[in-house]
Amino acid sequence: MSIVILGIESSCDDTSAAVVVDGLLRSNVIASQKVHEEFGGVVPELASRAHQQNIVPVVATAISRAGIDKHDLSAIAFTRGPGLLGSLLVGTSFAKGLSLGLRCPIIDVNHLHGHVLAHFLRKEETDRVPEFPFICLLISGGNSQIVLVKDWGNMTILGRTIDDAAGEAFDKCAKVMGLPYPGGPHIDRLASEGNPNRFHFAKPHIPGLDYSFSGLKTSFLYTLRDAVAQDPDFIAKNQADLAASLQHTIIEILMDKLRRAVEQTGVRTIAIGGGVSANSGVREAVASYCERYGLEAFIPERAFTTDNAAMVAMAGYFKYLAKDFCQYDSTPYARVTI
Ligand code: KG4
Repeated sequence: MSIVILGIESSCDDTSAAVVVDGLLRSNVIASQKVHEEFGGVVPELASRAHQQNIVPVVATAISRAGIDKHDLSAIAFTRGPGLLGSLLVGTSFAKGLSLGLRCPIIDVNHLHGHVLAHFLRKEETDRVPEFPFICLLISGGNSQIVLVKDWGNMTILGRTIDDAAGEAFDKCAKVMGLPYPGGPHIDRLASEGNPNRFHFAKPHIPGLDYSFSGLKTSFLYTLRDAVAQDPDFIAKNQADLAASLQHTIIEILMDKLRRAVEQTGVRTIAIGGGVSANSGVREAVASYCERYGLEAFIPERAFTTDNAAMVAMAGYFKYLAKDFCQYDSTPYARVTI
């Protein structure tokens, strides 16, 4: 009999549901919330309400697109954390209710594990997946971590940010430039037309494999403040060069520690994940580094870089095989590491 897993993701501002059958992805539906745009960031209460509106149609669509019936489900996997508590509560409660109605087990998934395990999502049996161990550079709006993945359930953080995440650096600097939220994709687009060596921003000197991005943010802010004092149109005139130089610095910071992690561990397979792994420059930097040193690179499809339920269903599939279910008294958590 097939193993059919429904995944539900509601940790931030995307309501998503996906179905994985015997380890192969059958559907992945995402409803993104536009309601936050005018506020320049995610408003938690609005996010929870939008999840409530979206979750029934999103789950129903994922099930019908997968060509299955809800009674075929072997288990329901849901993101338990980290994320916004109100948002997580919607997915968690929905998963519990549906599982009680269908009499199938529930599986709690750590959202960060999901990002790592997204690399095992396959549409065909022949699709390439990483072999253990591999290193995953997990870079999103809330996290920047170098993870040593020894097995699907055995992950060690080799380095993490001590302050801002890489995505925050993109978003906060973009905000200073007057770009809409989230700024990362806008910087990416502008950077393709700019000179990455025009401006130089501060880079951190943090020991070990940890990251820091708050100094870069301050340095970016001061550069702009001084320049705008001389010429009020400075940002508008130099948008592309500012974006390209900022992106270049963020990539250098990320790559420096990633290279050290590879040297220290001797691991030959590198994966990237999380929202910032959608960035063209980051993807190119990782791909060319791996090519140069004969390492195997796993760069996810852009659809699987940001929050999605496909990765939750995949993580749920692994846990299902290990009979690792959770109880109905399990509650969401806002913060957790790998
Ligand atoms: O993993 P994710 O969807 O969720 C959170 O951690 O909340 O990551 C969102 C982050 C945001 O900071 C966004 O600006 C960034 O990913 N991001 C990008 C790009 N696409 C999304 N950053 C740089 N370039 C991109 N193309």
